[in-house]
Amino acid sequence: MEGLRAGIAGTGFIGRVHARSARLAGARLAGVAASSPASAERAAAELGAERAFASCDELVEADGIDVVHICTPNHLHEPLALAALAAGKHVVCEKPVALDGAGAARVAAAATAAGRVVAVPFVYRFHPMAREARARVAAGDLGRLHLLHGTYLQDWLLTPDDTNWRVDAALGGPSRAFADIGSHWCDLVEFVGGCRITRVLAHMATTVPARATGVRATFAAAGAAGTAGGGDGANAVGTPRREPVTTEDVALVLFETDGGAAGSVVVSQVAAGRKNRLWFSLDGESASVVFDQEQPETLWIGRRDGAEVVARDAERLSPAAARLATLPAGHGQGYHDCFDLFVADAHAAMRGGASAPDGLPLIGDGVRAARITDAVLASARSRSWTEVTS
Ligand SMILES: NC(=O)c1ccc[n+]([C@@H]2O[C@H](COP(=O)([O-])OP(=O)(O)OC[C@H]3O[C@@H](n4cnc5c(N)ncnc54)[C@H](O)[C@@H]3O)[C@@H](O)[C@H]2O)c1
Repeated sequence: MEGLRAGIAGTGFIGRVHARSARLAGARLAGVAASSPASAERAAAELGAERAFASCDELVEADGIDVVHICTPNHLHEPLALAALAAGKHVVCEKPVALDGAGAARVAAAATAAGRVVAVPFVYRFHPMAREARARVAAGDLGRLHLLHGTYLQDWLLTPDDTNWRVDAALGGPSRAFADIGSHWCDLVEFVGGCRITRVLAHMATTVPARATGVRATFAAAGAAGTAGGGDGANAVGTPRREPVTTEDVALVLFETDGGAAGSVVVSQVAAGRKNRLWFSLDGESASVVFDQEQPETLWIGRRDGAEVVARDAERLSPAAARLATLPAGHGQGYHDCFDLFVADAHAAMRGGASAPDGLPLIGDGVRAARITDAVLASARSRSWTEVTS
């Protein structure tokens, strides 16, 4: 089968990344939809898409689209995924797949019923050195894992003037920081560690209790192609209006795994100076491995008698990691490359033939992320250890 005909629903930050990666995977950019017909027209012109759809509903049902990339605010993921699957399309659905585990399970059931692929962009799996860490854990180089720990820290919501549709639970869901970025950390650590988080004890905090109203200012500043909200940000010149925030800025989570390891992760969108610090250490009986998303070309390997920094060099990596090393050593790969590799594998699975490439995050991984978020929310509310349902 030739390249897929891709439709992109939602053309903000990540919709544009999807559009680029889809093209590189050999797809045609058959259409885009955004928050209004006018913003879809603008995005289609900028991205060179063949067609601007008046709405996402129209796009997901249109003939001439093989795969829908759902890149809208979170509350639209589940309904758009269900509609796309009902129309016989494959789906790349941004995380969170739904606002809770039950919704994500509905998407999984619909994918099974339709016999279509739903891939979920947990793209940090596609850093070659994260794959190398996974291979070393699987080969037993670290021994039994006993402690998994780390952070996912950002600062883009540090002040009361910072706002976004994610802050609004009706659009973003009941968890913000954890569902948005903590979910990436958990997916990556489970993937690399070859384990499952079974129980969590969570504390969540909203450090900025009131924020500027609406999201229009943020969309304008980001140059995004539309707006999910209708707030007006400020009264007139000067005093911005504020509204109470119900979603968390910070989440601290203790956990246990099915392999008997203990763990902790600190997640924040208000950590001054931290931009996208997804960092973890997996500590085993004989060695530890550290991966830092902001320094993705190396792994730190610690042993009792010394430590080493391993650089990405395909000739010295495991086959699974070397497959993702698309540039020669020393020629930095980064986030875009992860996305390109993810979409290439997702589209290959959709084009059929062989089984899904190893490591491709699918709807089951999206369901799992939503269920971990459910457990984290329940634990923070009850202030007690809570099981993650499987
Ligand atoms: N996998 C990743 O690494 C990653 C990274 C960033 C974002 N995301 C996910 O992607 C999604 C979008 O995030 P973003 O950062 O691109 O947000 P964004 O605010 O930059 O873009 C959202 C887009 O959705 C559009 N939109 C709003 N309301 C709409 C509607 N009713 N119908 C159609 N389109 C509408 C807006 O016009 C905007 O273009 C989120 O679910 C987020 O969790 C994933």
